[in-house]
This record gives sequence, structure tokens and C-alpha cells, in this order.
Amino acid sequence: MTGELLGSGRSADVYVIDDDWVLRRYRDGGDATAEAVVMAYLAQHGYPVPLLQDPEGSGQSAAPRTDLVMQRLHGTSLLHALLQGVITAEEAGAQLADLLHRLHSIPARVCADPAFRILHLDLHPDNVMLASGRPVVIDWCNTEEGPPGLDRWMSALILAQVAVGNSALAAPARAVLASLLGHLGPVIALGDTDSGCLAEARRRRAADPSMSEHETQLLDSAVELIRELTPTGP
Ligand SMILES: Nc1ncnc2c1ncn2[C@@H]1O[C@H](COP(=O)(O)OP(=O)(O)O)[C@@H](O)[C@H]1O
Ligand SMILES: [Mg+2]
Repeated sequence: MTGELLGSGRSADVYVIDDDWVLRRYRDGGDATAEAVVMAYLAQHGYPVPLLQDPEGSGQSAAPRTDLVMQRLHGTSLLHALLQGVITAEEAGAQLADLLHRLHSIPARVCADPAFRILHLDLHPDNVMLASGRPVVIDWCNTEEGPPGLDRWMSALILAQVAVGNSALAAPARAVLASLLGHLGPVIALGDTDSGCLAEARRRRAADPSMSEHETQLLDSAVELIRELTPTGP
């Protein structure tokens, strides 16, 4: 039994259960077990994620866990807040930079490599919800552990692809990207290591089956725009 459809993204549908809870269900039958473990870990470390109803997975059967029951967030996404003029592009970029920074200051859960952290890998303004003015990060289906630079460049690349497209979102996306890159500052300067992460982010975006051919074609100009807008530092 599912209630009203609250939201629908590229991979999942989210239904109302009641005022406090929603059900997120993968349309393709994907398994949400791994992301549930990561979300519970991040919540324990004080990171803003929706709380899970069953963080231990105790009610779980042997069947793939396509469903997640989580805290219902009452509010709008950062993207909508931006388009409605509730926040500025400068503020949206600053929020994204802060959320990335806070995520990457939490120790990795499984990886022994001291440089590795938990990555979101899809942290863009439609995956941040403002609930009572507080940003909460949703949509952890791509999460894995790795170098934080990869996460930063994924966020930048997602925005840059929109910025170089011809939709109505191009101008706001460019402004948010400029703010994000400015706030990430020296940590995202195009040193050897970081440009390796940018190349990896580009490779992953190109291999993403949910992207249209048109979106894939924009990757070169997107990388170019990132290079143009990245502060060079001292
Ligand atoms: N915890 C939540 N509370 C309220 N709405 C949510 C919640 N999680 C997701 N949504 C809504 O459902 C939409 C899709 O969820 P999301 O996890 O981003 O899935 P997708 O991978 O399909 O993008 C979101 O954009 C948002 O509108
Ligand atoms: Mg989403």
C-alpha cells in the first residue's frame, strides 16, 4: 500500500506514508541496503540526512531491499528555493560547498585509506531539501568511498552541464557553479590530483545510462566552463 506520490526522480519514486514518513522505492528494483547503512552512519555523525525508520535493517527479509522508509522532510529543494527567489545563487553555491566540506570531514566507514571519505556523487541543488530552513541531503544511491575531490568535481560537473545547455536553468546553474567553485576555493584548484578526479568525474558522467546523448555531448564544454570559473588561487 502506497500513498500519494510526493516526488519522482531519475531512479526512484517517493510516496507519502503519513505526516512523518515517506517511502522511497526504486523503479528498477535496485537495492537500497547499502545506502541505508551509509545514511544511518552519517546521521550518527551529525550529518543532515533524513532519518531512517529502521536504521538497523531489522525488519528486512532476504529479498532485495528496494524500499526505504525515511523521515518526511517538509520543505522544498534548494533548486526550487533558488528558482522562487527564496535564496540567491551565491547562497546555494555556499550551501553545496559547506555540505561537501562537512561530509568529507567525517571518517570513512570501511576504507582504510586515510585520504578516502564517504562521497555522495550526486550532490546537486535538487538533492538538497530545505526543511525548516535547514539543508538536508537526500538521494544517496550513488554513494561510495573515495577521494573527496571526485565528489567536488561531480557536483561541479553536474551544474556545469546544465550551465552550458540551453534550458531556462542554464543561467542560474552557472551562477551556482561560480559560487560553489569560489567557496571550495583552494581545495579545488586544478592541481594534478584534482584534475585526475575531474577526468574521473567526466568519465563517470559519460558512462551514466540515465543521461541523454545531448547531455553527454555537453561534457567537453562543461569541463571547459569549470576551468574558466575555477579560482586559480595564490
Ligand atoms: N525524505 C523526503 N521527504 C520528502 N520528500 C522527499 C524525500 N526524499 C525524496 N523526496 C522527494 O522525492 C524526489 C525524488 O527523490 P530522490 O531521492 O532524489 O530520488 P531520485 O534518485 O529518483 O532523484 C525528491 O526530489 C523530493 O522531491
Ligand atoms: Mg534526486
